[in-house]
Amino acid sequence: MGVKFMSLKLKVLVGMIMVMKVASHNYGDAFSKCILFFEGQRSGKLPPTQRMTWRAHSALRDGSDVGVDLVGGYYDAGDNIKFSFPMAFTTTMLAWSILEFGNLMGSDKQYALEALKWGTDYFLKATSVPGKVVAQVGDPSGDHNCWERPEDMDTPRTSYVVNTSNPGSEVSAEIAASLAASSMVFKSVDLRYSRRLLQRATQVYEFAQKYQGSYNSSVGEGVCPYYCDYDGYMDELIWGAAWLYKATGSYKYWNYVVQNNQHLDNYEFGWDSKHAGINVLVSGLVLSTPKADPFVSYADKFVCSVLPESPTKTVTYSPGGLQFKPGGSNTQHVTAASFLLLVYSSYLQMAKNRVVQCGNNAATPPSRLVDVAKSQVDYILGSNPIKMSYMVGYGINFPRKIHHRGSSMPSIYSHPKHITCHGGTLFFESKYHNYNMLTGAIVGGPDDNDQYIDDRTNPPQSEPTTYINAPFVGVLAYFKRYTSLESLTFDSNYTQYHM
Ligand SMILES: *[C@@H]1O[C@H](CO)[C@@H](O)[C@H](O)[C@H]1NC(C)=O
Ligand SMILES: *[C@@H]1O[C@H](CO)[C@@H](O)[C@H](O)[C@H]1NC(C)=O
Ligand SMILES: *[C@@H]1O[C@H](CO)[C@@H](O)[C@H](O)[C@H]1NC(C)=O
Repeated sequence: MGVKFMSLKLKVLVGMIMVMKVASHNYGDAFSKCILFFEGQRSGKLPPTQRMTWRAHSALRDGSDVGVDLVGGYYDAGDNIKFSFPMAFTTTMLAWSILEFGNLMGSDKQYALEALKWGTDYFLKATSVPGKVVAQVGDPSGDHNCWERPEDMDTPRTSYVVNTSNPGSEVSAEIAASLAASSMVFKSVDLRYSRRLLQRATQVYEFAQKYQGSYNSSVGEGVCPYYCDYDGYMDELIWGAAWLYKATGSYKYWNYVVQNNQHLDNYEFGWDSKHAGINVLVSGLVLSTPKADPFVSYADKFVCSVLPESPTKTVTYSPGGLQFKPGGSNTQHVTAASFLLLVYSSYLQMAKNRVVQCGNNAATPPSRLVDVAKSQVDYILGSNPIKMSYMVGYGINFPRKIHHRGSSMPSIYSHPKHITCHGGTLFFESKYHNYNMLTGAIVGGPDDNDQYIDDRTNPPQSEPTTYINAPFVGVLAYFKRYTSLESLTFDSNYTQYHM
């Protein structure tokens, strides 16, 4: 009797393990958290609907040094600076995520729209004076020298502004791209707001075009070496034109894209380089038309640069299967490339399942692009050799000591006393877990051998950024539909500690 019972139990156990093995992730849960993360990065006056409740108002005097209201926007990463260039890319990617996959977002679409509007509201302020664009708020050396909660900040909140004599075409054109893309999102939600965004996009784009130059040298010690424009500003001018063409249908912008397409033979995509994104975006407009060249062949080249089996791939893969590019914060490349693979795959499917040819390989069908993106998503969510989810608060095993000032220190609600610039060092160096869960934050991720050190002092691996998460909002919306009942056996098991 006892033996029989045992064997039955064993069978059940084996069955469970099989389910666990084949079960996919709870993409819906990851998706909700991926958006929630943006609430943790909010600067300014928080609304009563704020769900990341350990955060409070901060930086309420931003812009007072230049007489402009610059309250709001997003802190970029684990520090408390508002860098417009990556923030604008983040905003563009949130908008693109909603444009492509908004209909799959369900009740969380409202939160995605709020996350987007938090960015666009700020950019309306940052571009409110014609002929000027705010490139950054917060003195980087002052900020980086301190480990302080945003709510306690007493470092210089210097505003760095580009203008007609000290221009910044990359930051201005990326802001224009974000406003144009967002105007399309808000068209069906709030027409007046949408028109306002589009009108501002055209104005800021004109400034970027007319006064060409890089903000590298225009804002002194501001952006370099943090977010230098390494890649030049031609790509942002083309990217801005492509989004404005999509938003307005004006051939003025289309002609600019076509006349400058010789600059687009490149596979990069991220806050600095927009090339692959432009090729995929434009391919969506011209696939199976006589205007397809060279955008579609360049987009194909991008695909061939990331597929693991491609003879022309330029990325490497870790033994556990994660895409790699040199430099820190590797997951930024993974989320951005996965987004482009999914978007391009859907464009290819619409074009009668067009295939991609990589060297002499067998033709690649659009479904293969989805499989590769899914492998990257699953890796990030915990299907990897050390079984670590790289999204905070998703799964059971996730980073607890992320490089993030606010998250690592007690909330001002539990510890209202001011913590000074160097008073925070204690928390930075602490061996203990962070106090507050920055739910949904995706960190820089493991090394190219699948190893991860959960350590605050290791920002290339442990720091989250807004532009890692932004493309993932679209990616997870896409996979959300595959959330199955079995995947619930692998559901997150965490308590919202300190919240
Ligand atoms: C642009 O900004 C620089 C640096 O702040 C300033 O010296 C210059 O006068 C400004 N130019 C215009 C046209 O406002
Ligand atoms: C911006 O500065 C970086 C670092 O010095 C440099 O590599 C890059 O070429 C500069 N970009 C432009 C457009 O001048
Ligand atoms: C899940 O959470 C519960 C309650 O905190 C805990 O008792 C249990 O051990 C956790 N399960 C796993 C697999 O970590």
